[in-house]
This record gives sequence, C-alpha cells and structure tokens, in this order.
Amino acid sequence: MFEQTHQLGEVVVQFPGAGEVFQRHGLDYCCRGNRSIAVAAQQAGVDAEGVLAELNAAYRIAENGVHTDHDWQKERLQALMDYVVHTHHAYLHKTMAPLGELVTKILRVHGAHHGETLRQVHQLYNQFKMNMEEHLIKEEEVDFPMIARYEIQPDANSLQAVLNLIQGLEAEHQEVGDLLREIRRVTEDFTLPADACATFSYTYDKLQELESDTFRHIHLENNLLFPRLAASVA
Ligand SMILES: [Fe+2]
Ligand SMILES: [Fe+2]
Repeated sequence: MFEQTHQLGEVVVQFPGAGEVFQRHGLDYCCRGNRSIAVAAQQAGVDAEGVLAELNAAYRIAENGVHTDHDWQKERLQALMDYVVHTHHAYLHKTMAPLGELVTKILRVHGAHHGETLRQVHQLYNQFKMNMEEHLIKEEEVDFPMIARYEIQPDANSLQAVLNLIQGLEAEHQEVGDLLREIRRVTEDFTLPADACATFSYTYDKLQELESDTFRHIHLENNLLFPRLAASVA
C-alpha cells in the first residue's frame, strides 16, 4: 500500500498502473516525479487522500492478477532501451506527421469560431513535434548507443560522459512535457465545443493518446533508465 509521503516516480516504478491515476489528476510523475504525493497534490490543487484511495484501489486490483506489468529493474539496460525505441519511439515516428495534418485541418475548418484555442494548439503541437523529432534522433543515434557501450564495457570516463548526456535529455523531457501540459490547459482538458465535427473530436482523442504515451515513455527514461546509471557511480 502507498502513502502520501511516497514519491510519484518511485510509485510508478513499483506499480506502473499508478501512471494513469496520476495523469487523471494532473500530477506530473515523469518530469517532476521526485515530489511526494502530498506535495504534488497540493501543487495541483487536488485532494491527496482521494488520489491515494484511488491509487491503492488500483494497486489491489493489480495485485489480484487482473493487471500485470513488466519489471524493468531486473532487465539489462539494452533491453529497456530496445523496448522504448520499438514501442514509444516507433509510436511517435508513426503518429507525429499525420497528427500534425489533423491539427492543421481543424484550425482551417474551425478557426473562424475557435481560432484562439486552435491557433495555440497548432503552435504548441508543432513546437512539440520539432523538439521531439530532434530528441528521438539524438537518443537513437548518440545517447542510447553510448549507454549500450557503457553497459558492455563500464569505465569511469564513459560513465561521466553518459551522466552529462542524461542532464541534457532530462531538460528536453521537461520542455516537451511542458508543451503537452500547455496543450491540455489551452483546450481545457480537451473539452470539445458543441459544434465540433468528427475530425475535431478524433484530433483531441489522438492528442490525449500522445500525452499518455509520451508520459509513460519519459517515465521509463527518467525514473528507470537514468537512475540505474546514476546508481552505478557508487
Ligand atoms: Fe525516448
Ligand atoms: Fe527521451
């Protein structure tokens, strides 16, 4: 059972299903996962006891075997990185361009009545897409291969180089995470106007899916991959 003093990131490492509970309440567990449940809830203006009750209820269901998740702490780093690339990076590579077209299309069709919101969504989404494309290239071409080489042949010099890279990646995670939170804010939690068409509604659904997938993705890197490298300093 979890308590209010537990940190968000650690809770999701132990119980991945917690990510959905935290996301539902607007608690950032991936980029700012080092806060306790009590502090994060207070900052988000939500009831910590309510979040905790929901979290422990979800955990009890998972404990009964209805829902199981992979324990990445026991796997090699290479396996975790392969999983991230083949699941979350592949998702972004497939999704970002078509979703960009949808975001442009709803601005064109609904801009006359909902221009203020949709112009912001268009700008924020395109900033997210550009940042994320560069970030994925960096991870796939430079950073993950360097971590993989370090895992095979660990030494103090390459560990320091890896730790320096991680700082940069964490800062980039913060930026893309903030852009997604801003999209949620300007759309008032993806609330559709009464005159929204099917494309409008589908676009908001896909933006929410992008948010969920990206938060799970960043969580695996920030709260599982990077801490194991930092721990190897000792
Ligand atoms: Fe990544
Ligand atoms: Fe990343």
